Amino acid sequence: MQERKTTEHSPTASGAGPDTGREVAVELTGVTKRFGEFVAVEDLSLDIYEGEFFSLLGPSGCGKTTTLRMIAGFDEPTEGNISVAGEQVRGVPPYRRPVNTVFQSYAIFPHLNVFDNVAFGLRRAGVQKDEIRQRVTDACEMVQLAGFEKRRPNMLSGGQQQRVALARALVNRPKVLLLDEPLGALDLKLRKELQLELRTLQHEVGITFVYVTHDQEEALTMSDRIAVMDSGVVRQVADPATLYEFPHDRFVAGFIGQTNMFSGRVEAVEGDRVTLRTSDGEKIEAKGQEAIEANSEAHVAVRPEKIRFGGDGDNVLSVTIEQVVYLGVSTQYIAVRPDGEKIVLYQQNSHDTAGPAEGERVSVAWDAANCLVLGG
Ligand SMILES: Nc1ncnc2c1ncn2[C@@H]1O[C@H](COP(=O)(O)OP(=O)(O)O)[C@@H](O)[C@H]1O
Ligand SMILES: [Mg+2]
Repeated sequence: MQERKTTEHSPTASGAGPDTGREVAVELTGVTKRFGEFVAVEDLSLDIYEGEFFSLLGPSGCGKTTTLRMIAGFDEPTEGNISVAGEQVRGVPPYRRPVNTVFQSYAIFPHLNVFDNVAFGLRRAGVQKDEIRQRVTDACEMVQLAGFEKRRPNMLSGGQQQRVALARALVNRPKVLLLDEPLGALDLKLRKELQLELRTLQHEVGITFVYVTHDQEEALTMSDRIAVMDSGVVRQVADPATLYEFPHDRFVAGFIGQTNMFSGRVEAVEGDRVTLRTSDGEKIEAKGQEAIEANSEAHVAVRPEKIRFGGDGDNVLSVTIEQVVYLGVSTQYIAVRPDGEKIVLYQQNSHDTAGPAEGERVSVAWDAANCLVLGG
């Protein structure tokens, strides 16, 4: 058996203290998946740590499910390697991998009650009756289905059916739980409740979760770290706050939350301060993330809540308010620059401040520190 990989060079004793590195639960190395000529996943390398809630996030068709299926063993990579819990898994069939998968469709047996659904895999594996009872009871408790053991799926709500699917996966005590848009079929309110529940559950059981979603808000709510995917390629891997505050490229900035984008030519670079001149002559001060050269073309992004009304700041633009949308906690303003480009900004609502009205001409401002130069 190969040596387990850790975040640091440290022994992998199970009694390792909190300062030693975390073990890698799933490791993808240069994984490519082709379907004929079509490249669904391209040269993907990822380390997912033990006990982590890790999400694969991206638009439909970007390769999330394909990646999950390769970890589960339903598909093999065309190139590259996958290890789960320190073991190479090429050629290992799904049922022999230390993983379980929960799909969007509930995949539970309609003719079996909750208990028998959850017990199904254990019975087939020949586990002792007493142990089955204990493990099924524990699993039902974990997903808040205690007391529902005798019910048939048709007497359960969609959310409860998905809990059964979850209990069925957890009862096997997998090292890694793979979840492919498990809340996708549920309505918004229930989805939000279950997002928080799943997150709590994951903390309690400590199993590594690899969670697939196309919903950026869902990924931000639940994940320790997120890999943002686009057309088979990972664009950025980071924790939610870093992805939001420091998106690496235009795709990530546009996919996570809302953003205002400006394009232009770099006029000056001083330290991490970059001056950009837009095609309509506006000067914009921004923060560079990596080395950038004067005279190159660049894009900068600023989040809607970082822009405020008034003429104070590193960047000031005069705009006309086109639309005001009251959203409860905040108000969204859509403003137009003289060249016709739009800017979106959000202001927190409070009792004593009224924002500008539609048609009004105002100044908006923001600081260079909140305005990032982006790649790609
Ligand atoms: N078995 C297959 N044969 C051919 N193309 C496939 C197959 N599975 C997936 N694809 C293609 O690979 C791309 C990625 O699919 P998928 O991983 O399901 O995306 P996602 O889960 O991110 O929506 C899509 O364009 C899809 O049509
Ligand atoms: Mg999918």
